[in-house]
Amino acid sequence: MTSVSKTQVGIVGAGPAGLLLGHLLHLAGIDSVIVENRSRDYVIDRVRAGVLEQGTVDLLTAVGLGGRLAREGMRHEGLYIAFGGRRHRLDLAKLTGGRAITVYGQNDVVKDLIEARTATGRPLHFEAEDVSVDGLASSPTIRFRHLGVEQELRCDVIAGCDGFHGICRQSIPAGALTVYEQVYPFGWLGILAEAPPSCDELVYTHHPRGFALFSMRSPTVTRLYLQVPPDEPIERWSDDAIWDEMLVRMRTDDGWVPNVGRVLQKSVTPLRSFVAAPMRHGRLFLAGDAAHIVPPTGAKGLNLAACDVQVLADAVTAYYANGRTDLLDGYSDTCLRRIWWAQRFSWWMTSTLHLAPGASAFDRRRQVADLEYLTRSTAAMTSLAEQYVGLPPEVPVPTAGV
Ligand code: APR
Ligand code: PHB
Repeated sequence: MTSVSKTQVGIVGAGPAGLLLGHLLHLAGIDSVIVENRSRDYVIDRVRAGVLEQGTVDLLTAVGLGGRLAREGMRHEGLYIAFGGRRHRLDLAKLTGGRAITVYGQNDVVKDLIEARTATGRPLHFEAEDVSVDGLASSPTIRFRHLGVEQELRCDVIAGCDGFHGICRQSIPAGALTVYEQVYPFGWLGILAEAPPSCDELVYTHHPRGFALFSMRSPTVTRLYLQVPPDEPIERWSDDAIWDEMLVRMRTDDGWVPNVGRVLQKSVTPLRSFVAAPMRHGRLFLAGDAAHIVPPTGAKGLNLAACDVQVLADAVTAYYANGRTDLLDGYSDTCLRRIWWAQRFSWWMTSTLHLAPGASAFDRRRQVADLEYLTRSTAAMTSLAEQYVGLPPEVPVPTAGV
């Protein structure tokens, strides 16, 4: 027996993109069903990045999701770039007229969004099996099995928010998408550590042994990363070996080092840049990691996902309000402009701060010159700062409603 149902927007994936889209549509009075193949706990516990641009904080606050974010999020008005044994502070707020970033884990964002969704009573199906999409040209349908029952969900449009490995992008016929990709010859070994932050800002370190990053999650938990080969087995790194390498790369001449503590979680992620264009095929709209990946060095992934769904919600709202299709037609181009700017910034941060295997003496010296210029020229610092805190949104931030 197949159960057949209908909705306005069928959303595949309950990551930040899918959940935030569902929330924005709810505020506009538009029905959606969210279909996720993992469990609720898995989605909430997955450790990911955690830097929110000023615009993402403004958006989440405007749509009623700013409560815990304001209490527990850690606002940072500066960041450090370290090289040659010295930390250089860039005053983000001063360079951008008062803008800043907020450190708030992606899993906290997801937790808040799931709570908000649950409070609306609108459908959010976890542990959906065999999810597929078809009829993309004129009768978009999501099929899946949930609690043992085959489901056929007929939609006006489908939002493919199912991440890089999802099925939505793969359901678009070969030839209809152009893929742009760059794979980097390194990955990040990331740890969560039970250790209070020893610095009040994030520290991006360029070191002759490779890049390292100091970040945090709370007054008692730090998040740190080390550049490693992309296919590095995590088993090769004991906790002691990780700390030894962190301390060697991060220690600065003024005696600063991260606090050492129990390692709560560790994993290796390869770095890549990826864009699939256009982000639309018929009535399927891709958003977030389903359409693009940035290396984490620029901290743009979650923010780009939020921008995509803001543009999509705005376009879908205009469609239902007065039959306008121009915003839906412009969705891909509108998003791709920002995405390419973020790709360029993330690529630049990555290539400036990491050590490429096989880099020549010239490459290494030029990188140091880049960093010297960056930390001495107000123009260069302003350029980094305005991109790091986030360029202005493509569409106006919606006003808080429900
Ligand atoms: N059916 C249903 N859901 C699926 C399927 C499928 N076949 N495949 C994947 N999913 C789910 C995943 O389990 C995940 O919960 O889609 C969701 C996609 O979420 P994310 O990968 O977090 O992607 P997105 O919402 O676009 O958020 C982008 O995630 O990777 C980070 O740095 C990135 O912060 C950025 C953010
Ligand atoms: C993080 O806190 O996880 C983090 C911070 C900055 C980055 C990437 C990740 O550039």
